[in-house]
Amino acid sequence: MTKDSVALWGGRFSGEPADALAELSRSTHFDWRLASVDIAGSKAHARALAKAGLLRDDELSAMIDALEVLKCDVTSGVFVPSPDDEDVHTALERGLLERAGSQLGGKLRAGRSRNDQIAMEILLYLRIEARRIASLLLDVVQAILYQAKQAGYAIMPGRTHLQHAQPVLVAHHLMAHAWPLVRSIERLQDWDKRAGISPYGSGALAGNTLGLEPQFVAKELGFVDSANNSIDATASRDVVAEFACVIGIAATSLSRLCEEIVVWNTKEFDYVTLDDAYSTGSSIMPQKKNPDVAELGRGKTGRVVGAAVSILMMLKGLPLAYNRDLQEDKEPIFDQIDTLDVLLPAIAGMVTTMVVHYERMQELAPQGFSLATDIAEWLVKHGTPFREAHEIAGACVRVCEQRGCELSELSDNDFSAIDARLTSSVREVLTIEGSVRARDGKGGTAPHQVDNQRRLLEQQSSLLRKWATQEVAVL
Ligand code: ARG
Repeated sequence: MTKDSVALWGGRFSGEPADALAELSRSTHFDWRLASVDIAGSKAHARALAKAGLLRDDELSAMIDALEVLKCDVTSGVFVPSPDDEDVHTALERGLLERAGSQLGGKLRAGRSRNDQIAMEILLYLRIEARRIASLLLDVVQAILYQAKQAGYAIMPGRTHLQHAQPVLVAHHLMAHAWPLVRSIERLQDWDKRAGISPYGSGALAGNTLGLEPQFVAKELGFVDSANNSIDATASRDVVAEFACVIGIAATSLSRLCEEIVVWNTKEFDYVTLDDAYSTGSSIMPQKKNPDVAELGRGKTGRVVGAAVSILMMLKGLPLAYNRDLQEDKEPIFDQIDTLDVLLPAIAGMVTTMVVHYERMQELAPQGFSLATDIAEWLVKHGTPFREAHEIAGACVRVCEQRGCELSELSDNDFSAIDARLTSSVREVLTIEGSVRARDGKGGTAPHQVDNQRRLLEQQSSLLRKWATQEVAVL
C-alpha cells in the first residue's frame, strides 16, 4: 500500500501492510459491482447525518452533488478502483474525497462501519437482482406456456420410473416443469420480506452514538424497516444463504427440464428437434447436432447448488459478530447470478424454438400397456373390488406379453376368457383419448382440466411479473 493511498484504517499501525496481506484482503475485483448500491447508501447516510444535525444544508447538498458526480464517473468508467483500494467502500471513499475535498468528504464516515454498510449493500443488491432473475425465470415459464398452447390436446406417454405409465396431454407434462419455477419465484417473493430489513445504522455491531435513525435510512433505501438487533444485523448472512438456496432449487428444477430435453432429442425418443440456433455440432462427427444448451443447464446446476453449500459452510461455526469470513459470501452468490444470466435466456430460446413431434408421441402413448389402469378402473366402476380388478387387468397384460400385442388388440373373446366381467364395452376406455378424458379431477390430464391449469399458470405468472418489475429503490 503506498503512502498516499486512502486506507480506512491505519492510525494505530506503525508499519505498512505486507503485500501478501493486501493481495489476500483485496476484494474490488468482485465487490465493485456493489458500487451503485454503496453510493445510494452513502447518499442516504448523508441525509441521516444532516437530520441528526451533523451536516449543514449546504454541506449536504455539496455531498450529494459529489456523490452524484462519483456515480456518473463510476458508470462511465472514468473512476475505477486502484490496486491500493482494499474494497469497494475504500475505493469510493477515495473517489468522494477527490471530488468533495477531504474536509467535507471526510465527514461522511461518521457513525457507520463497513460492517453495517456491507450487510445492507448485499441485501439491497440481491433485492434488485432477485426481481431481475425472477423476470428471466418468467421468460422460461412463458416459453413453456407457448409450447403448451401449441400442443393443444396432443397426447404423449406419461412415465414413472422412466417406463410407460399412463397417457397424458403434452401440455400437462410441459406445464409440470413450469410450476416448480413459479414456486421458486414465489420463494423469492417471500424471501424479500426478510431481505427488506435494513442492517444500516448498526455501526460495527452495537449501534451508533450519533443519533442517526436506522429507520430513516431504511426507508430512504426502499427497505420496509430496520433491524431489531444490531449484532444480528451485522453478523448474520442467513438471508443471503436463503437466496442462494432458492436459486439452487430453481436451478435444480431447470436441470430436470434440461435432462428431459436431452432424452427427448435422442433418436430413440425422437420427441423433439432442437432449432439449429440452439444446437451445436461436433468437431469430428459431421452428422452431429448436440443439445448443449440443455446439457449446460444440467451441468451448471452443480456449480449453482455448490455456491449455496459454500455459503452455508462459511457461516457454520462463526462467532458473533462480524468476521472477515463473511466477505466470502459474495463470489458464490455473484457466480449464481452470472450463471443464471447466461443460462435462462438460452433455455427460454431453446424451449420456444424446439419442434415437438406430436405424432410420434401420440403413437407411443398407448404402448407399454399404459391403459392397464383404465381396465382396472372400468371394472371398479362396474362393481368389481379394486384388488380383483388389478389382478384381472394384470392378467390382460400377461396375455399381451405372451402374444406380443397391445391391450387394444385383444379380442372380445380374449377379454371374456380372462374374466367374464370384461364385456366388450371395456373397449370404450382402451383409447388414449378416453383414458385422458376420464382423468377429470382438478390437476388431472383431462383436456378441460389442462385448459384450466393453463389459465391459472398464466394468471399466476402475470401477477409474479408485476412483482418482478417493481422498482426496489432509486439508485
Ligand atoms: N469487504 C468486507 C466484506 O465483504 C467489507 C467489510 C469489511 N469490514 C471489516 N471490518 N474489515 O464483508
